[in-house]
Amino acid sequence: MNLREERKLAHLHYAVALGDAPGGAGWDDIRLINLSVPEVDRKEVSTVYEWWGKRLRLPLLINAMTGGTPLSGEINEALARAAREAGVAMAVGSQQAALDNPAVVHTYTVVRRHNPDGVILANLSARATPEEAARACEMVAADALQLHLNVAQELAMPEGERAFRGLVRNIAAVVQAVAVPVIVKEVGFGLSREAATLLYGAGVRWLDTGGRGGTDFLAIEQERSGVNRPHLRAWGLPGAVSLAEVRQSGLPVRVIASGGIRSALDLARALALGAELAGVAGFFLRLLQQSSWEEVARVIKAWEEELKDVMVMTGCRTLPELRRAPLVVTGETREWLEMRGLNPARYAQR
Ligand SMILES: Cc1cc2nc3c(=O)[nH]c(=O)nc-3n(C[C@H](O)[C@H](O)[C@H](O)COP(=O)(O)O)c2cc1C
Repeated sequence: MNLREERKLAHLHYAVALGDAPGGAGWDDIRLINLSVPEVDRKEVSTVYEWWGKRLRLPLLINAMTGGTPLSGEINEALARAAREAGVAMAVGSQQAALDNPAVVHTYTVVRRHNPDGVILANLSARATPEEAARACEMVAADALQLHLNVAQELAMPEGERAFRGLVRNIAAVVQAVAVPVIVKEVGFGLSREAATLLYGAGVRWLDTGGRGGTDFLAIEQERSGVNRPHLRAWGLPGAVSLAEVRQSGLPVRVIASGGIRSALDLARALALGAELAGVAGFFLRLLQQSSWEEVARVIKAWEEELKDVMVMTGCRTLPELRRAPLVVTGETREWLEMRGLNPARYAQR
């Protein structure tokens, strides 16, 4: 087994074994407001979301995790079955392994094979060349391409990347070159307003916030390397903070919220804070390891029902209405937004 394969298996193992980052993602700081007289019949509530001309049953993405080893292929197949059954989107993990070694291409294409009509996203590092990006998209007949940013993780890996100059320019070149839309995502350290501005300048129109509080790559890399740097363990913008920063940047970007989303209520909170969809990775991986793809599909369907209940209780019939629903920002998230001049009261008084 080569180093990359070992690393992928270690990521899968530790992501399940270690659980979520301590300190939370801040979603509990987001409080929706109960409306006792909603003027909504539950049967009129729709969570359907159209993405790239395809219909999702709810605005949810099983976020990028894996590929490149036999176990990764099995996991991708299982997640693809769940995504198809539950009517949600799915991203494959970084396809660099398949670009370098054609023998593992099938561990990614299995996703398209099991979900031919679904929304599937390709995934590569933001350092990928335009040519690699085009090949990755073609491999899975991608509806869009995710480029991931993971500076904090690379620095925590003894074998990780150390040269980060030119990333924005590279992303701009990929955006220009590929035929599908490009989504730039973090992997758990959170996009800030400043990052969003730079990425917008590079032509990126979709951002996936990837905030802290869910999958904890610093803990994972610490377990892998044995190098303990406890003072850096809380690094990053929590999920709710990152979403509010990007949304209040004033940029006309569309936003996927992710990082520590673990329930239908978290999904509803993210939508009310202005996300179009939410991405969930570690939670579904753990669920799959504990049970089966059928259980993952069942839980997603239960989220759909719960999201509808939350929409009734907030008086919303449609997703655009939920995105305008008033909410109160409390705790550390409120403090952060105030210090950044982002006016959390704006959400409470709309
Ligand atoms: C085992 C594992 C592997 C991952 N590999 C990738 C990857 O290859 N590419 C990527 O963009 N993100 C990767 N991620 C990050 C997720 O897509 C997501 O951004 C992050 O886990 C935060 O979401 P969560 O808190 O719901 O897990 C991986 C996550 C996990 C758990």
